[in-house]
Amino acid sequence: MALFKPKTELAEVDFDRLPRHVAIIMDGNGRWAKRRGLPRTAGHAAGAETFRTIATYCQKIGLEYLTVYAFSTENWKRPMEEVSAIIGLLKKYLLESIEKMEKDKIRLHFFGDLDALPPELRELTVRTDDISTRYEGMQVNVCFNYGGRDEIVRAARAFAADCLAGKRSPEELTEETFSNYLYSAGVPDPDLVIRPSGELRISNFLLWQSAYAEFYYTDVLWPDFSKEELHKALAAYQSRSRRFGGV
Ligand code: IPE
Ligand code: IPE
Ligand code: MG
Repeated sequence: MALFKPKTELAEVDFDRLPRHVAIIMDGNGRWAKRRGLPRTAGHAAGAETFRTIATYCQKIGLEYLTVYAFSTENWKRPMEEVSAIIGLLKKYLLESIEKMEKDKIRLHFFGDLDALPPELRELTVRTDDISTRYEGMQVNVCFNYGGRDEIVRAARAFAADCLAGKRSPEELTEETFSNYLYSAGVPDPDLVIRPSGELRISNFLLWQSAYAEFYYTDVLWPDFSKEELHKALAAYQSRSRRFGGV
């Protein structure tokens, strides 16, 4: 008779079969803080630390692309104080990253409308983008002031403008051409989308790109998300059968 054996070790992951691109909706910072009697902004600060830990670990295990949802086009609805704190954390992260990029060799890119950011912050994103072109390490895409619908509308507008300018014609529009007008141009679609915090929704994240992504949901709040949680998500991904509409 087989004995029940509790699994205490890390979830088994085959590191030779990792997804190329993992995307994460970094959700649950506010609830994490509330449970501790702290202001929501403390949750965002803790979430930023988790991002650093997870991104470094993803680089270490050899992931090619990591895309994280940091601030949505809808998050402007939050109190100004919270929005300012999140923007402040982005600035702090960028300044620290610029110093560490030489060592970490993580390439940083941004998906989203950065025109809404203060000029000095925009300048920092341009600098990190520039530095990133020198490296060949993992690419981290930070989605900031990002919305999937907004991204698609902008791409449609840019394509229409190219048509008006005589650079393109409507017949040329294919899924592939259209993809090249998105923020994610040149980046393979995410294989795995992880959402912590217990919410079972997409909240306007990578709508076009996640057409055939595998989804992994967990109740763990983002600031508590650990390497072990990532292992569980990767192991779940590896147990799935991806058919892309085939058999
Ligand atoms: C995610 O955490 C961070 C952002 C959306 C900027 P939340 O702030 O949404 O945390 P919850 O969902 O309220 O717990
Ligand atoms: C999604 O989380 C956006 C980010 C994590 C940046 P939200 O907390 O904004 O999503 P909803 O409101 O629960 O759908
Ligand atoms: Mg949330």
